[in-house]
Amino acid sequence: MLEPQTQAFRPAVMATIEAYLQTITVPNLAAAMRYSLTAGGKRLRPLLLLAVVDSYGGDVNRAMPAAAGLECLHTYSLIHDDLPAMDNDDRRRGQPTSHKQFGEALAILAGDALQSAAFELLTQTVTTPARLAEGLRIFAQAVGAKGMVGGQVLDMQGEHQHLTLQELQHLHALKTGALIEAAVALGALLAPVTAADRQALQRFAAAFGIAFQIQDDINDVTKTSAELGKTANKDIGEHKNTYPGLLGLVQARAALAAQVGQAQAALAELSRPVPQLAAFLTYFDEENA
Ligand code: IPE
Ligand code: IPE
Ligand code: MG
Ligand code: MG
Ligand code: MG
Repeated sequence: MLEPQTQAFRPAVMATIEAYLQTITVPNLAAAMRYSLTAGGKRLRPLLLLAVVDSYGGDVNRAMPAAAGLECLHTYSLIHDDLPAMDNDDRRRGQPTSHKQFGEALAILAGDALQSAAFELLTQTVTTPARLAEGLRIFAQAVGAKGMVGGQVLDMQGEHQHLTLQELQHLHALKTGALIEAAVALGALLAPVTAADRQALQRFAAAFGIAFQIQDDINDVTKTSAELGKTANKDIGEHKNTYPGLLGLVQARAALAAQVGQAQAALAELSRPVPQLAAFLTYFDEENA
């Protein structure tokens, strides 16, 4: 799906993560963090960040710790999302979930440590102090109460109520959109991007983020556990509000297409062609082929 230029960043993201893991001196904690990080994830968020940097002629190597950190934030969100108190999932990224493998206490702590790892990695980004401060703000707001964690709380509360479409879109924008928006915002921070392009990139990311969670909701009802690497048909049993649940599959697909259209329109507003970013939208064609 992605441009070869974007794919080529993948080994460096993983090498940066591995180098970080090597610095952890508590062996079973490092093992639990490595277990979830090195399982088969798409690495979409770090690659998106780097694709933005590269599209604008920024220095991808200097941005690499930020990209690795973003994958740590995302992986932390997955470990906690799977916990018995949350979605209670047994499989993730093609293997048993962290708490199944290591027990709940270590899974919780591995998630905690991955969150702080993200900030430590971000500080290794080669940039100005002002940009670093802004990057820290972007990470903090995206992962916390104003972003992913806030969305997860709405998701949990939603298990006991029927949300409107507007409420569901807001939930998706927070729990999933926030980290995707952070990828793009951080990429734009670490490359010479004009204010106008930055705004259009933000619109791209917002639409992409919502589309990404609609696709995840669709996949839950249309794909097998083997295809997903996580348990299929999980959302209904957990009483989740989802696009297919609320609208049916046909309308959910239409809502997805509308978000993808908005993302494309935002890219068309940019001052330059960005084939690396446009390629991220082909993910949806592939998932629905
Ligand atoms: C899964 O994210 C959780 C959502 C926010 C939908 P991904 O689909 O990016 O999961 P990995 O990283 O590839 O495992
Ligand atoms: C993902 O939503 C939200 C996160 C912030 C991790 P889901 O709960 O639908 O993700 P999966 O389906 O378990 O990957
Ligand atoms: Mg969840
Ligand atoms: Mg889940
Ligand atoms: Mg899901």
